[in-house]
Amino acid sequence: MKIKNQISLGVLALASLTFACGGGESSSESTSTTSPAASSSAPAKEMSLEEKYQDDPIYIKGLEKVKGSDCQSCHMVERKIVGPSYAEVAAKYESTEENVTMLAQKVINGGVGVWGEVPMPAHPGLSEEDAKDMVRYVLLLKK
Ligand code: HEC
Repeated sequence: MKIKNQISLGVLALASLTFACGGGESSSESTSTTSPAASSSAPAKEMSLEEKYQDDPIYIKGLEKVKGSDCQSCHMVERKIVGPSYAEVAAKYESTEENVTMLAQKVINGGVGVWGEVPMPAHPGLSEEDAKDMVRYVLLLKK
């Protein structure tokens, strides 16, 4: 009699199923360095209106005449004092022949009510031509 030990070698090779579950290589380097050095939007120094128009013949001629009168005691180019700044006046009116004539008349005759309760005195000594040159200069001073 032969006893055969049939050893069913059901050797299921459950061999080392070593799942290499991402051994150590977790490269989760969040190197999203937000660069703060960029986008430094420093605005270029703004040119003054005087600088901007200094070479314009209308500017040169008008300034000469304005300086020869009393305008500067009530008007500045970019700041309101007694009267509106020239820049404000320039922003309000297009430099058309019509507006120049109208405003020149106002400088000569004086006026009130457009910018407030303070009146502009008359300048009866000014010729219409001089007043117009002054107004053209004022209306040139747009930002
Ligand atoms: C005593 C102060 C004073 C003096 C001097 C003066 N202004 Fe005026 N000016 C004013 C005031 C105040 C106003 C605003 C008047 C208004 O509200 O209608 C004005 C307004 C104006 C306006 C705008 C007018 C409008 O209807 O929008 C012009 C242009 C102007 N002045 C030009 C001149 C010129 C050029 C001179 C010099 C010849 C001059 N001003 C001298 C006070 C003055």
